Amino acid sequence: AFTVDVKSVANKQIPCHPEQKMLDAFLRRGEWIPNSCNQGTCGTCKVKVLSGTVAHPPTPDSVLSYQEQEEGFVLTCQSVPTSDVVIAVPAADKPSSTGHLLRDMTATVLQMQTTATDTLTISVGIDEPLEFSAGQYVELAIPGTNDVRQYSMANPPSQSNVLEFHIRRQPGGLATDAWIFDSLTAGDAINLTGPWGDFVYDDDDDETGMILLAGGTGLAPLKSIALHALTVNPQREIHLYHGVRRSADLYDVEFWESLARNYSGVRYVPCVSREHWSGRTGYVGDAMLADFDSCRNYSGYLCGPPAMVDAGVKAFKRKRMSARRIRREKYTPAP
Ligand code: FES
Repeated sequence: AFTVDVKSVANKQIPCHPEQKMLDAFLRRGEWIPNSCNQGTCGTCKVKVLSGTVAHPPTPDSVLSYQEQEEGFVLTCQSVPTSDVVIAVPAADKPSSTGHLLRDMTATVLQMQTTATDTLTISVGIDEPLEFSAGQYVELAIPGTNDVRQYSMANPPSQSNVLEFHIRRQPGGLATDAWIFDSLTAGDAINLTGPWGDFVYDDDDDETGMILLAGGTGLAPLKSIALHALTVNPQREIHLYHGVRRSADLYDVEFWESLARNYSGVRYVPCVSREHWSGRTGYVGDAMLADFDSCRNYSGYLCGPPAMVDAGVKAFKRKRMSARRIRREKYTPAP
């Protein structure tokens, strides 16, 4: 193994195998490097190589600018060391309560339930509890391939032996069509790695009201975040907007309705954008804009398709939510 020496942290030497991505090596030691997509598309995990060499696939200019690439910046989620390396990690806000050990697990499928059109809720059991922060995700290995798919935990961290995932079928998808919706059944073993990501509940904001905007199965991490927030403070003001195209795509309706009945601070607003129905129509960002005069004293969490997340962030800013209180995760469907 080579060592990766982190300059910004005194005496921090991380062993890294020649085929191991540097981010993987760090997280398995519980050393925090900002990261989000683990796919080379967000740029969050960049570091500057001060000495030594690393190998990595070509990085698009949109993820790391040519200037950054010239200056020696690389993505740790894509790079493997080819010698001992010294790196500098750009200063970044460490999200609260990350830094859990990344590890490989084998899980057993306990239950699979169709909850809406082309949508499954799956729960899996793991032998050793998984420590994670509400909002994080794991990668499921697709059997017979080297591919993985990312799914956020919908269960709160306090429920660490049984993980819940919300999975939407992608027509023709290697993971969903050809495996999960086709042949996966209760009792099957699946291999997972996690936890990943920095879309997490921020415990600096324990007192502020929260507005959660979800699109489709982007509901999963927000369910984890809401349940965790209520464990910390059962009086917490939480507004959950769930956007889908058609009313048949809504799921977990009873769960959220009963949460709203049992916790006085919880409000549930399902929104349907492509058909008329008995409830709110339109996009979640627009529904939120109509409901709030000001978001100055709220924190915002968004998860869903990129266009929904971008529109929601804009809507929060229009209502004066401070940028540091906005946390987001974009779900981009894999083939
Ligand atoms: Fe997104 Fe590495 S580019 S985590």
